Amino acid sequence: VTEPDLRGRHVVISAGGTREPLDPVRFLGNRSSGKQGYALARTAAARGARVTLIAANAALPDPAGVDVVPVGTAVQLREEVLRAAADADAVVMAAAVADFRPAAYAAGKIKKQDGREPEPVALVRNPDILAEISAGRPRPGQVVVGFAAETDDVLANGRAKLKRKGCDLLVVNEVGEHRTFGSEENEAVVLGADGSETPVAHGPKEALADTVWDLVAARLE
Ligand code: PMT
Repeated sequence: VTEPDLRGRHVVISAGGTREPLDPVRFLGNRSSGKQGYALARTAAARGARVTLIAANAALPDPAGVDVVPVGTAVQLREEVLRAAADADAVVMAAAVADFRPAAYAAGKIKKQDGREPEPVALVRNPDILAEISAGRPRPGQVVVGFAAETDDVLANGRAKLKRKGCDLLVVNEVGEHRTFGSEENEAVVLGADGSETPVAHGPKEALADTVWDLVAARLE
């Protein structure tokens, strides 16, 4: 039986991966399926929360009773997360957000030129949504949770990222071409700004999600 310990709370979750368009047919993207973020949304709803799920390019069914807001790019994701975060008790950034986007968007499909080498793709920085929300706290007492997708030196990189981003909790998970992305399972260590470390054994993404909500609920009391 799930305790309704998030009843009366509004939580905002981002899920999926942003796509940064180069032209009308191509984009820079990543391997996020949205499954971890959707598991967070389902478990929060089961615990009684009002849930806003900002979903970037996730081909998954809308969880029952959850307000789903579809987005494409990091800039759109930022706009919708900030809008929803204004009255949120907790914000959880599980989306894989592109750090960079193409500097230019070609209105027509980029063509290959006979005998010519391709032009390099110039990139510009995207806004860091997690750092912005952590610094600004749109609502006082709001709990902010980030994820860290790492391929190497997972814990050391996670600790540095927690400091840099300024969030309360950071879920550190290892990713690879065939690891975590798209899978039904995950394993992680949840780092707290208070120095706490909560390991979560390999298991369904819902189990990791429930541990995140346990830690969030404790900080909301
Ligand atoms: O979707 P699945 O297939 O289930 O896979 C789950 C997952 C691996 C995508 C997920 O568990 C995960 O790790 N999500 C975070 C991916 C990510 O962008 O990690 P990062 O280390 O690059 O970013 C750190 C944090 O900053 C994240 O909370 C991210 O949402 C946030 N961020 C990053 C860049 C940016 N410009 N703005 C941000 O807010």
